[in-house]
Amino acid sequence: MRSRSRLIPAITIGALAAMLSGSALAGSSGSPGLGDPYYPTDGNGGYDVEHYDLRLTYQPSTDLLSGTATITAVAVQNLTAFNVDFALAASRVKVNGLNATFTRNGDEYTITPVLPLLPALPFVIEVTYSDTPSKVPGSLWKKTPTGALAVNEPHIARYWFPSSDHPRDKATYDISVAVPDDGTAVVSNGILLGSVPERGGLKRWIWHNGSYTATYLSFLTIGKFNVETAHATRGRPFITAFATDLAEPSLGFAKESIGKTPEIIDFLGTQFGPYPFHAEGGVVVSGLTFALETQTRPVYGVSFFLNSTNESVVAHESAHQWFGDHVSVDTWRNIWLNEGFATYASWLWSEHKGRGTAQQLAVSVYNARPENHPFWQVVVADPGAGNEFNRAVYDRGALGIHALRVAVGDATFFRILKAWQFDRANRTGTIEQFIALSERLARKPLKDIFNLWLFTKGRPPAPPGAAEDT
Ligand code: ARG
Ligand code: ZN
Repeated sequence: MRSRSRLIPAITIGALAAMLSGSALAGSSGSPGLGDPYYPTDGNGGYDVEHYDLRLTYQPSTDLLSGTATITAVAVQNLTAFNVDFALAASRVKVNGLNATFTRNGDEYTITPVLPLLPALPFVIEVTYSDTPSKVPGSLWKKTPTGALAVNEPHIARYWFPSSDHPRDKATYDISVAVPDDGTAVVSNGILLGSVPERGGLKRWIWHNGSYTATYLSFLTIGKFNVETAHATRGRPFITAFATDLAEPSLGFAKESIGKTPEIIDFLGTQFGPYPFHAEGGVVVSGLTFALETQTRPVYGVSFFLNSTNESVVAHESAHQWFGDHVSVDTWRNIWLNEGFATYASWLWSEHKGRGTAQQLAVSVYNARPENHPFWQVVVADPGAGNEFNRAVYDRGALGIHALRVAVGDATFFRILKAWQFDRANRTGTIEQFIALSERLARKPLKDIFNLWLFTKGRPPAPPGAAEDT
């Protein structure tokens, strides 16, 4: 999706062919990537995806994933060929209903439609595929004892569906997966429209996610789960799924923690602006060492709940629904916009519950690492490819946010956060844009503060707010 609305004239294939005959279209291929400095071939140039309709079948016993992805996109230039990011084997590709030729080089497919595509016109790509995702080299799809898990950041989409795999190209999704009708469940983003029997002893689970979603935030979990639907604020469905292999006491801790999600989301809505999506939830699995802010429904590894409840991780993943999901990184270098704010949100939740103020947490995070600790050598505003989830991006990143709050005061600080969400809704942002907005609303230069916390190596002389505190 490109920002803002488009006017799309209705056009028939016949009219298109007539327009094209006689037109001297120079050969123009879409680029294989969007030029992200960390991952230059992520995403694809020349078109924007608007919607993914994935109609799949999965066999847990063999890890066979097959079906058709129907992608609705809009060309932004003349295209005689274009690329798609996909790491599985496709058997057929159609464009606007006509068989297209395609070649594959690793996880880049180059597709050549029979008819060239014209700028501003929508087109439909149908990719039929069948493969065993866990066996693909470099695959991040995880096979589990009862199913599979497609949950990762920054890369996961290409291991289960063809896509323009970059946060700049958000789209809406309809995802349905047929699995054995033996208690196997399928969980994804958004709302569950139903699960219906299908021939061959299968049951098809039908999920709809109508909000613009970055590819890495679209997820699939298949396996034995207890899936439950409740209702959160404004009647939003609150859908949770707990893997049936989870044992007490962690299962109880997980349930209690995830159960706080609606309350946490309501609180964060007072800090960041209204919750941006139509559904809420949480999924807890055993085969994951991290948690991910998958849109509307974060997925948590059970390790967060081993010895106690953990509202901090729920606050963190819930905050990502605003910082990461609703407003996404424009390139992966900007990961502080996700992890710094999600971490800071868990401090705000702690403060709200009277368990320790953000100021106290800032001081303890600062003091936790001595001056010579490698923690202080990470440049938060540019941590490097593969280093996006370094602790410094989270904790030093949150210190930088606290420094901003101390510098501008609470009223301006929360005005900045809300304006950021409003201005960049369903789009992406950069750190530089955030700094510019902050300076505009604070009516004063703030570059020194951001430079000190985000753009500089080394431990700053004191934690933010220290002077006021001592
Ligand atoms: N964004 C996730 C979080 O909430 C981190 C994901 C880390 N990814 C990974 N493959 N370990 O902190
Ligand atoms: Zn995070």
